[in-house]
Amino acid sequence: MIEDDGYFGENIAATYDTSAADMFRPDVVDPAVALLAELAGDGPALELGIGTGRIALPLAGRGVPVHGIDMSRAMVDRLRAKPGGSAIDVTIGDFATARVEKTFSVAYLVFNTLMNLTTQDDQVDCFRNVAAHLAPGGCFVVEVMVPELRKLPAGQSAVPFHISDTRWAFDTYDLATQAMSSNYVTIADGRAEHWSIPFRYVWPAELDLMARLAGLRLRDRWENWTREPFTSESGKHVSVWEKPFD
Ligand SMILES: C[S@@+](CC[C@H](N)C(=O)[O-])C[C@H]1O[C@@H](n2cnc3c(N)ncnc32)[C@H](O)[C@@H]1O
Repeated sequence: MIEDDGYFGENIAATYDTSAADMFRPDVVDPAVALLAELAGDGPALELGIGTGRIALPLAGRGVPVHGIDMSRAMVDRLRAKPGGSAIDVTIGDFATARVEKTFSVAYLVFNTLMNLTTQDDQVDCFRNVAAHLAPGGCFVVEVMVPELRKLPAGQSAVPFHISDTRWAFDTYDLATQAMSSNYVTIADGRAEHWSIPFRYVWPAELDLMARLAGLRLRDRWENWTREPFTSESGKHVSVWEKPFD
């Protein structure tokens, strides 16, 4: 069910940090924070979809002023409850359009959250919105998966990614529209509960065009935060687009 908080309402926010525990491990967080701190330099950072502060809090801990945008008050309440959380300014709104009266040296959108925008128009608007917030020379960093279409045999539209006695999880793909969804069926006491979240999958080359429409240009693309090369076997990419000085 969609609430004002979007798909990250109270139910999801309450268990987000534990259900995404692998993403909070230092070996996952530290390289991302190191790269973002380097790109921020002496300037402030803007996180789109700041959530419970997985990246924002350690980045702020390194002395980078961080401002967040998120539509979920429930997620932001979790951020605020953590040490250092109340020092981070957050604008409640849609990161495709919400404005912050400040410019930033780096803006970032991680953990596939760009795909939460479910239309091409919204994704294009997001790039334009970020470009308007960047100082000349500033960077937009996106971490997003490569669509797993190679796992789809002809005629099949679902890719399972977790099957156990108590949980089934699978993604669905609609190749005609680039619509995608992640689905979780949890089984307890003989009853099954289904949670589904819609996405729009997007290829690196399409993102480069969105960036170009927004006046940004590709500076780097890696397979991960430790800057390994992006190849045709990469499952995700970390891409950096720059706002030119002229
Ligand atoms: C997967 S969580 C990621 C949170 C955090 N960035 C992290 O890496 O742990 C996605 C977050 O983006 C927020 N979000 C999704 N779509 C949004 C939108 N269009 N505008 C603002 N926030 C959005 C959700 O509320 C949620 O907090």
